Amino acid sequence: MAPFLFVLTREVNGMHLKSIDLLNYRNYTKLGLNFSPSLNIILGDNAQGKTNVLEAIHLLSLGKSHRTHLNRELINWEATFSCIRGKAIRGGKETCVELMIGEDGLSRIKINGALKRRVGDLIGHINAVLFCPEDLKIVKEGPEGRRGFIDDVISQVHSQYYFWRQRYLRCLRQRNALLKQIAVQQREPSALDMWDKHLIETGTRIIIQRERIIRRLCKYSDEAYRRMTGGKGGDNLHLTYLCELIEDEPTPGKIESRFELELEGKRGLEIERGMTLVGPHRDDLLIQVNGVDMRTFGSQGEQRTSSLALRLGQWELIKEETKDFPVLLLDDALSELDEKRRTFLMEMIEEDAQTIITSTNPVYFAPQHLKDANLFRIEGGQVSHDV
Ligand SMILES: Nc1ncnc2c1ncn2[C@@H]1O[C@H](COP(=O)(O)OP(=O)(O)OP(=O)(O)O)[C@@H](O)[C@H]1O
Ligand SMILES: [Mg+2]
Repeated sequence: MAPFLFVLTREVNGMHLKSIDLLNYRNYTKLGLNFSPSLNIILGDNAQGKTNVLEAIHLLSLGKSHRTHLNRELINWEATFSCIRGKAIRGGKETCVELMIGEDGLSRIKINGALKRRVGDLIGHINAVLFCPEDLKIVKEGPEGRRGFIDDVISQVHSQYYFWRQRYLRCLRQRNALLKQIAVQQREPSALDMWDKHLIETGTRIIIQRERIIRRLCKYSDEAYRRMTGGKGGDNLHLTYLCELIEDEPTPGKIESRFELELEGKRGLEIERGMTLVGPHRDDLLIQVNGVDMRTFGSQGEQRTSSLALRLGQWELIKEETKDFPVLLLDDALSELDEKRRTFLMEMIEEDAQTIITSTNPVYFAPQHLKDANLFRIEGGQVSHDV
């Protein structure tokens, strides 16, 4: 079978994270780590700080933690502010990305020393894909997590998308507030017209991007799933974009007219309920393995393998779209996979791409991996480096 991941093609750059420095971040008062451009293994018992390191890298990549939306929780309990700095090398050039979190929970961003106005400006400087135990929720729980996953992927390959999505959500909040005012006759229904226009414009952009990305993600995630479950004869994974506003081949024109029609038809009901009932905030993603819906019928192992395949698909997609290797962050990915899937996953990790993987137990790694890797041991927020 043709190698799927980590094939260094001529057009792809070798972006890698050179180092990370943490100040008052979670259980670290001060920490500096230098990474190898290929495999890095972080070993440590439970509750020592392994996930915290990956969380900090993810934070530099997407401007948000994967575990909390409250930035204040990231500041060390004994401190009043926190600072995270990462240095990435791309095409021989270094980029320094800094994020400071103040007591008020607000963050400030600097790229190469220059202050940036918006958190979204951070995206794209250090591209990383994190697979973590919480990813099971993408498959198992409600549609919000699946929409969030897709939106993160699109933002990483198309930086303007982040801002369009923010505009859409803002418009949605304001439109919902207006619907409630109309219900109590404080405002005229015609006040909705302007918001409808804005909702349709921003919403259509979101739908077009989601449709395109899901189609491509499906291909890459399916390849990853097949590889992990035995290659050619392996199981297949299929992703279907569930959007009420798409009928057949989607074009912006078709989506806009359908959007308008649906809003018109549902206006009365929307006023009655005080919320917007049409638009991409109601989208979902159907994840199937061999035709079976993983959310309802997947076994724990299938759901976990599906979520891992989604992340590996994300990795491949970012690589294809940005011509750059994203950093692959695997948090405790091995312990819950059976031996076969574990071996397949480790085989997929090759030298050309940077991988940072955490584990409580070195037995999950082949001796060769332990020998070649840059090995860290973490104990109580202190890191020692095994050569
Ligand atoms: N703001 C904070 N200040 C200080 N310590 C914190 C803060 N937030 C979390 N911690 C602590 O950091 C410790 C390490 O957490 P982390 O999630 O990184 O552990 P881990 O090594 O990944 O463990 P596991 O193997 O169980 O996943 C935890 O004991 C947690 O209570
Ligand atoms: Mg952990």
